[in-house]
Amino acid sequence: MTARTEKLERLFAARKAQDGQHMTDLFDTDSKRAENFSLSAAGLFIDYSKTFLTGEALSLLIETLEQSSFEERRAGLFNGGKINTSEDRAVWHTRLRTTPFAPEVESVLQQMERLAQNIQKHGITDIVNVGIGGSSLGPELVTQALSQHHKKDIHAHFVSNIEPSQLNDVLAGLMPERTLFIITSKTFTTQETMTNAAVVKDWLQKHLKQDSSLSRHLVAVTASPEKAVAFGIAKENIFEFRDWVGGRYSLWSAVGLPIALTCGMKAFKELLSGAETMDTHFKTAPLNKNAPVILALLGIWHRNICGYPAQAIIPYHNGLRRLPAFLQQLDMESNGKGVTQEGKPVTTATGSIIFGEAGTDAQHSFFQWLHQGTDIVPVDFILPVTTKDDSFNRQNILMSHCLAQSEALMVGQQNEQEPHRHFNGNRPSTTILLPDMSAASLGALLALYEHKVFVQGVFWGINSFDQWGVELGKSLAGKILTELDGQTIQRHDASTTQLIQYIKQQKD
Ligand code: F6P
Repeated sequence: MTARTEKLERLFAARKAQDGQHMTDLFDTDSKRAENFSLSAAGLFIDYSKTFLTGEALSLLIETLEQSSFEERRAGLFNGGKINTSEDRAVWHTRLRTTPFAPEVESVLQQMERLAQNIQKHGITDIVNVGIGGSSLGPELVTQALSQHHKKDIHAHFVSNIEPSQLNDVLAGLMPERTLFIITSKTFTTQETMTNAAVVKDWLQKHLKQDSSLSRHLVAVTASPEKAVAFGIAKENIFEFRDWVGGRYSLWSAVGLPIALTCGMKAFKELLSGAETMDTHFKTAPLNKNAPVILALLGIWHRNICGYPAQAIIPYHNGLRRLPAFLQQLDMESNGKGVTQEGKPVTTATGSIIFGEAGTDAQHSFFQWLHQGTDIVPVDFILPVTTKDDSFNRQNILMSHCLAQSEALMVGQQNEQEPHRHFNGNRPSTTILLPDMSAASLGALLALYEHKVFVQGVFWGINSFDQWGVELGKSLAGKILTELDGQTIQRHDASTTQLIQYIKQQKD
């Protein structure tokens, strides 16, 4: 038995020993549990005491992590190591927020700043980001979350889907002379984005009074500038980022342009600074007080030792309503892997199902299932504590709900007489308190999750930075597209052939 297997066995035994125990018993046996199982990092306060994690289990998990390639890979994350081996690429998004900024980072920040200062002078009122996945989710989330920084008379729109109504609905409300389109794509080959970009270019050419002014309304953010030029974007309108920035880690780069234009460069730099503070914490804090490490190991305890398949993300701030979607890509595209870095099948479960919704809305949809359903799913409650608008006691009402949910999940409510009203409790959750919904707090929160996902990937021995799983569907779609467009249908399974034929008949 290897040392790692032996530790995992001990973790299973520790969990088994908790059979019949109520989570609240852990607080009875350790009067300092709340204090011992919580920590502060980069301005965030994280309470992970409402779980079955014990000090002994955490130590075993930390030892296991220490015996992996963790130190070496964490160093790689901060010095541009080629840790994305299956794509033979360096990973270095942390460089984008490390001060003093590297010259190539600084020059793009200055380019962004110049545009941010100029757009209003040029009468721009609407910014449309055309991009998908990492080229949309991060900027959309942050732009929504930082509404207190929104410049008057600047409105941001995000178009990601190839389904026509999304772009058409946005275009219907726009005046071409007042609109700036940002085509955001690392590769500048993503079919949805390039097709939508072609629609946008066509729309501008048809509606602008002078064709020569196209360049004032169309810019690109990409790591493939030559492709943007070939598409027809003026060289000076291209905002570059490097190959070492993965799509789902790219909001800190020029991909954050919609944030900078809508909220201002000051807010964007505060976002970077919040993330840098979390980076420093991740690099320097001892592992047993290291927030990303603790959240990662807690997640491994839940996924691998307790066998919980999912993780719910519930932000108690409407501006964070896209956080579950953002974390879905960050976590599931990074850690939804079935083979190790060396290409061997993994021997334990890897990334969880991530889902969620803003609170309190979520309470009125799937919280019934969280409280009394037959599966147990740990919840991350995320709560900014202060707000600019405290009127009608709304912030306190909001916070009371957030705290009540985690208490109810853990404590439950015995009711033998009325089984429908019985709550077993024992359902784990973590609460992350942000001082406020500022750019710095948000930067720290997003970097926290980035590093959590990274640590889990290292623990599982997988490559968190590739995404080969999205390729097969893309190439089959290419084949099916030619069949939908043309006459002949090639060989498919009988179900797919039937569906293609049915669709073609409906179109005829
Ligand atoms: O879905 C696959 C993916 O490559 C993501 O990783 C990425 O964020 C998204 O597509 C968009 O890619 P691009 O920025 O190259 O258009």
